[in-house]
Amino acid sequence: MSNNSIEEDKLRALEYRRIDRRRVKLRKSEDLFETVEEVFDYSTLMALYELINRGVIDEMFGAVSAGKESRVYWAKARDGSDLAVKIYLTASREFRKSIQQYIRGDPRFLSIRKDSRHLIYTWAQKEFKNLEEAFNAKVNVPRPICAYKNILVMSFIGEEGVSAPLIKDYPPEDPDKAYRTILEFIKRLHRQAKIVHADLSEYNILNWKGSLYIIDFGQAVSTAHPMSATFLARDIRNVNRFFSSLGVEVVPLEEAFKWVTAG
Ligand SMILES: Nc1ncnc2c1ncn2[C@@H]1O[C@H](COP(=O)(O)OP(=O)(O)OP(=O)(O)O)[C@@H](O)[C@H]1O
Ligand SMILES: [Mg+2]
Repeated sequence: MSNNSIEEDKLRALEYRRIDRRRVKLRKSEDLFETVEEVFDYSTLMALYELINRGVIDEMFGAVSAGKESRVYWAKARDGSDLAVKIYLTASREFRKSIQQYIRGDPRFLSIRKDSRHLIYTWAQKEFKNLEEAFNAKVNVPRPICAYKNILVMSFIGEEGVSAPLIKDYPPEDPDKAYRTILEFIKRLHRQAKIVHADLSEYNILNWKGSLYIIDFGQAVSTAHPMSATFLARDIRNVNRFFSSLGVEVVPLEEAFKWVTAG
C-alpha cells in the first residue's frame, strides 16, 4: 500500500469515528464536539481521538477554564467518573521562553527536543510526573491519569462540570488550619516528592468540601533545579501573604523555609 493510501485510510477512520462520536454525543450534549473541533488543531484532535479510542475519555464537555496557554475541559471516563482534561495549545514565543526556564536544569528532562510541538509535549509530561510525585507523597492534588502529546488527563475536583472554587474566591473556614495544611503540603512536596511547585498561590489552590487541593504543576521543578530554593521562597512568600490577609499569624519566611527543607 502506498503512503498516500495509508494516510487516506487513517483520515477515513478518523472521519468515521468523528461522525460516530458525534452521533453518540449529540444525543446527550448538543455543544460537545463542535466546541472541540473549533478550538483544536488537527494533531490535538487526533490525540483526543486516540484517548477516546484507548478508553481513557468517554465523553467530553465544554471548557471549565480557557487560559492563554491551556484550556481545561470537563470530561467523563467510561466508569462515569469525572475527569479534567488539560490541553496545552501551541506555544507562543513568551510561553516557550518561560517553559525552558523550568525545564532546563531539571535532571528529569535532560535531553528534550526543543521544537515548539515537542516542548509542549514535554511540558504536559512534566506536569503529569509532578502530579504523580505529589500524589504519591500524599499531597492533595488531582489524581494523574495520563499524559499523551499535549493533553493531560486527571481527576476532576468539583462536581457536574463546575470546578471547585479557588481559595482566593472561597477562603477556608479555618484559615489557621488551612495555612498549616498548605505548609505541610509544601514540606511533603519538598521532602518526599522532591519538587517545588514554583507557582503556588491562592490562584492554584482549590477549596473542595473543606479540603484544599493544589493544582497546576506544569512549572514545578525538581529540588535539584538550580533555582529551586528561589522558587520555594517565592511560594512560601505568596502563601504567607495570602494567609496574612485572612488574619493568620504566619511563620516568618526564613523559619518556614528552614522547617520545609530541614532533613
Ligand atoms: N483537576 C481539576 N479539576 C477541576 N478543575 C480544574 C482542574 N484543573 C484545573 N481546573 C480548573 O482550570 C483552571 C485552570 O487550571 P490551571 O491552574 O491548571 O491552569 P493555568 O495554566 O493556570 O491556566 P490559566 O492560564 O487559566 O491560569 C483552574 O483554576 C480550575 O478552575
Ligand atoms: Mg493556574
